[in-house]
Amino acid sequence: MIYKSLFIATTCILCLGAGVLAAEYDASNFSADGRKWQPVPTGHIPGKDNGAGKGTHNAGEDCGICHRPDGKAPVIFTIAGTVYEDRAGRKPLQGGEIIVQDREGHVISVTSNEVGNFWTQAPVSSNPYAIASHGGVTETLYYTDELGFHTADPEDTRTWQYKAWVKSGNHVRPMVTIAPIGGATDPSSRMSCNMHHAAMGSRGGLWGMGKNTLASYPPARLSFKKHILPIFRNKCVPCHIPGATLTRLVTQSDFEGEPLTQIDHSKSLDLVSYNGSSVTTGGTTWTKRGIKDMTAGYEDNPDASPVLAKTRRQADGSVIHGGGAFWSATDPDYRAIRKWIAEGAQDN
Ligand code: HEC
Ligand code: HEC
Repeated sequence: MIYKSLFIATTCILCLGAGVLAAEYDASNFSADGRKWQPVPTGHIPGKDNGAGKGTHNAGEDCGICHRPDGKAPVIFTIAGTVYEDRAGRKPLQGGEIIVQDREGHVISVTSNEVGNFWTQAPVSSNPYAIASHGGVTETLYYTDELGFHTADPEDTRTWQYKAWVKSGNHVRPMVTIAPIGGATDPSSRMSCNMHHAAMGSRGGLWGMGKNTLASYPPARLSFKKHILPIFRNKCVPCHIPGATLTRLVTQSDFEGEPLTQIDHSKSLDLVSYNGSSVTTGGTTWTKRGIKDMTAGYEDNPDASPVLAKTRRQADGSVIHGGGAFWSATDPDYRAIRKWIAEGAQDN
C-alpha cells in the first residue's frame, strides 16, 4: 500500500514536470491525434542518451533482432536504428539527432554516427492505457487495479510508447504515430526503427530530408513531371499516398475513445498523383484528393495554396502540419513549386 501511494506521488511529480515542459501536452492526450502538431522538445543536450560503443555494423538492418533479451548480442537496447540523409537511403546521416518523448514527458536524445547508426539503453515509460493491435486483432494490455487505477505491465515493451522526431540541422521530421517499442505480439521484443521505416526494401532507416530534391530548377516553364512530382515523391511520402493510411491502434483512446484518436495520416490527400486516387483495400475504399486540388486556382497567390501554406516554417516558429515544417519561402524546392503554381499548376 505504501509502495502504491509512493508510486502515485512520483507519477504526479512527473506530470507536473511535463506540464512545465509543454503546457499543451500532458499524459492525457498521448495519442496520434492529441500529439499531431506537437513541436519538437528543446532544451536538452543533444546525444545525452547515446549508448556506449562504436556500433558500426549492420547499418540499415533491424538491430532489435539481436539486441533484445535472448538475442545474439550481449547488450540490449531500448531504441536503435539507422538514419539516412534522404528516403533513397544512399548516404548515412552523421550527426542526425533522434528525439523521443514518452508519456511522462521524459526526453531521450541520441545522435547518429558515421554509418548513421544510433542506439540507447535509456528507459521509456509504460503507458497504462496501452493496447496492442495486429492483423485486425486487438489485445488490451491495461487492467484496472484494486484501487481503480489503470495500469499495465511495465515490463511489457509494447506499453513503452513514445512520440519521435528526427532532426538534421534546422530540419525536423516528426513521426506521426505514437509508437510502441515492442512489436505487435511479442512482449519482450525490441522493434528497431529500421523495421518500420523501410525506405528501400528490407534495408531501412529514418531519413533527415534537409536537402533539395533536384540540384537545380529552371527559372520558368517548370514541368510537373520533371520538376514538381519528384519533390512530392521525395518529401510527402510515406504519409500522403494512395490506399490505407491509418495510424496504428496503440492507446485506449485510439481504440474506444470518443471521438477516436486514431488518425488518417494522409488526411485523404494523395500527393503522388495529380488528380488523386481511389483504392479499395480490405473492403474499404480510400478516395483521396490529389496535387491539383491543393494547387489549382492559386495562380495569383501561390504562397496561400495548402501545399505551401501548411508546410512552410511559420514566422512564429510554430508547426501547423502533422508532417512537420519542410521549408522556408526561400528554399529551392519551395520556390520551384511556387513558380509552377503561378504558371497555372498544369499536369505538364
Ligand atoms: C545479426 C545480429 C546483430 C544485429 C542485427 C546488430 N548487432 Fe550490434 N552486436 C551484435 C553482437 C553479436 C555484438 C557483440 C559483439 C561485438 O561487440 O561485435 C554487437 C555489439 C554491438 C555494440 C557494442 C559493440 C560496438 O560495436 O561498439 C553496439 C553499439 C551495437 N552492437 C550496435 C548495433 C546497432 C546500432 C545495430 C542496428 C543498426 C546493431 N548493432 C545490429 C549483433 C548484432
Ligand atoms: C510524416 C507524415 C507526413 C508527411 C511526410 C507529410 N505530411 Fe502533410 N499531413 C500529415 C498529417 C498527419 C496531416 C493531417 C493533420 C494536419 O492537418 O496537420 C497532414 C495534412 C496536410 C495538409 C492539409 C490537408 C487538408 O485537407 O487540410 C496538406 C496540404 C499537407 N499535409 C501537405 C503536405 C506536403 C506538401 C507534404 C510534403 C512536402 C507533406 N504534407 C508531408 C502528415 C504528413
